[in-house]
Amino acid sequence: MSMTASTKVLVVTSSILGEHSQSRALADHLREGLAGRGDVTVTERDLIADELPHLGSDELSSWGVEPAERSAEQARLAGRSDALIEELLEHDVLVLAVPLYNLGVPSQLKAWFDRILRAGKTFRYTEKGPQGLVEGKRALILATRGGQYVGTEMDSQTPHLMSMLGLIGISDVDTVFAEGLAMGEKHAAATLKEARQAIDGYLERL
Ligand SMILES: Cc1cc2nc3c(=O)[nH]c(=O)nc-3n(C[C@H](O)[C@H](O)[C@H](O)COP(=O)(O)O)c2cc1C
Repeated sequence: MSMTASTKVLVVTSSILGEHSQSRALADHLREGLAGRGDVTVTERDLIADELPHLGSDELSSWGVEPAERSAEQARLAGRSDALIEELLEHDVLVLAVPLYNLGVPSQLKAWFDRILRAGKTFRYTEKGPQGLVEGKRALILATRGGQYVGTEMDSQTPHLMSMLGLIGISDVDTVFAEGLAMGEKHAAATLKEARQAIDGYLERL
């Protein structure tokens, strides 16, 4: 995809490590790279500053009620997912800055996916299985990890992310990994440098 005047990038951050966050630092590097690029619009969805609660039964059931028949509370609850889906649909490129926490995604990011993966809105069930309804998007995952897991059975996070994105129809997904960040300063510095270079390469191809 070539960069057009209307390219919109949505950056989703989910690290609880504040200014020490490595995934946020990589997302910031990407944003700096995009800063000089014409009319690219970057939106950040900070899932820590603006934390979503767990998806609960009242919110889930609000989705099944016709909009005109919802109570005020059901409209508020359904509006949470509606707004996040609308935000995703408004953008061309989804960037997920994803720390590895306890071998999975941060629960704040899972709470976001729980609003985005919505049957009847972003995917539907068919006789042949689920079908994604989100078209024309691409995604970039910036994954930071204390250990090294890529290509091993321990990496349950990457397949999970791919499956969640694939379910709604986003199959054009690039990945940048910064692994082994807890394996000594020298190793961390080298792997972060490589990740920044990989991001630069991605931006050149965008
Ligand atoms: C609560 C917590 C859980 C973590 N769990 C893991 C883990 O299971 N495996 C791992 O390799 N690193 C783990 N780490 C290390 C992080 O993956 C590493 O610090 C990474 O930089 C996190 O991204 P961030 O800096 O953007 O938050 C964990 C860190 C925290 C704070």
